[in-house]
Amino acid sequence: MKRHNTDISRLSGNWNYPTAIRFGVGRIRELPDACRALGMARPLLVTDPGLAALPMVKDAADACRADGLACEIFSEVRGNPVEANVVAGVDAYRRGEHDGIIAFGGGSALDAGKAVALMVGQDRPLFDFEDREDWWTRVNADAMAPVVAVPTTSGTGSEVGRASVITDETDHRKKIIFHPKMLPAIVIDDPALTVGLPAHITAAVGMDALSHNLEAFCSPVYHPMAQGIALEGMRLIREWLPVACAEGDNLMARAQMQAASTMGATAFQKGLGAMHAMSHPCGAVLDTHHGLTNAVVMPYVLVFNRSAIEEKLTELARYLGIEKPGFDGVLQWILDLRRAIGIPHTLKEIGVTEDHVAQLAPMAEADPSAGTNPLKLNAENLSGLFLNSINGVL
Ligand SMILES: [Fe+2]
Repeated sequence: MKRHNTDISRLSGNWNYPTAIRFGVGRIRELPDACRALGMARPLLVTDPGLAALPMVKDAADACRADGLACEIFSEVRGNPVEANVVAGVDAYRRGEHDGIIAFGGGSALDAGKAVALMVGQDRPLFDFEDREDWWTRVNADAMAPVVAVPTTSGTGSEVGRASVITDETDHRKKIIFHPKMLPAIVIDDPALTVGLPAHITAAVGMDALSHNLEAFCSPVYHPMAQGIALEGMRLIREWLPVACAEGDNLMARAQMQAASTMGATAFQKGLGAMHAMSHPCGAVLDTHHGLTNAVVMPYVLVFNRSAIEEKLTELARYLGIEKPGFDGVLQWILDLRRAIGIPHTLKEIGVTEDHVAQLAPMAEADPSAGTNPLKLNAENLSGLFLNSINGVL
């Protein structure tokens, strides 16, 4: 197998697409330098409480301090971040007279950190910048704080995203806050930071990365660059996600998954689809894990979209080298992969029941990801999709 012949030290590089990415094992040591490159002297490190308790975060903050940077840690960030977390982060930023953000962690911490960086310079409330019409033009872009992003899970890809997903507790909706400058100026992509992730989280976030690449690939939007990235992202996931789950300390697998995750979020500038449109309301209402929810609904969504994606999945099966050709081969691969890495088959198993469908389906219809699904979504066909996903009807 070729994976045993590659040297991990070769998987290192400086990329400038879609932003400046310093990729490679051990490159977290460049964090102080990255902060200085963006003019920071007093960075606020935004992370979640779980990570804040780990040596990884303490070591990173200590390294900044040893280098003369006045670095403090803010960790009041929930698994599905809410507006209050962003407001508290802005307070901490102002109190500490900070001049930049280190967004450090999984999707929640990255999204919260990026939102804090946006909000430190605004005088309107957060949800005035929701991704609707041209609301992003309300942002005073010059007053946004610079961001260094350090992803520690391979899935969300938020380190290369131009948006944050924040839950509005007043109406229990996940809202997308968007501005082109929310794309972090520097990313440190160090696969060694993901080595401690337990297998079930590795599986769930890895499936989020797969859903980004797959939904972007199936989106009808014209974007051949994103299309190429999505295809290669899926090839890496097919080869390496099972290895990363089975052998958590396999740095080669961790590196390939970290790359595939960054690629997924780069590709989804082309749009997402029903997997994310369904997953967002489940997360907002029932606090389900984002990547896990995408993973559960994935095969049901593919079957629903079949008539519109048959040709694309035939290409995909060929590129991935799946033995059984066409749509059926891809579907079988995904079902086998889910089973191998312990993803439940139905939404029922993660707490979504038929009673929730009447609430979830209209929310999914209104989700911004719904607009780029290959087939047009409405509350009625989404109800059907939810019911199939709850009851395991493929
Ligand atoms: Fe996602």
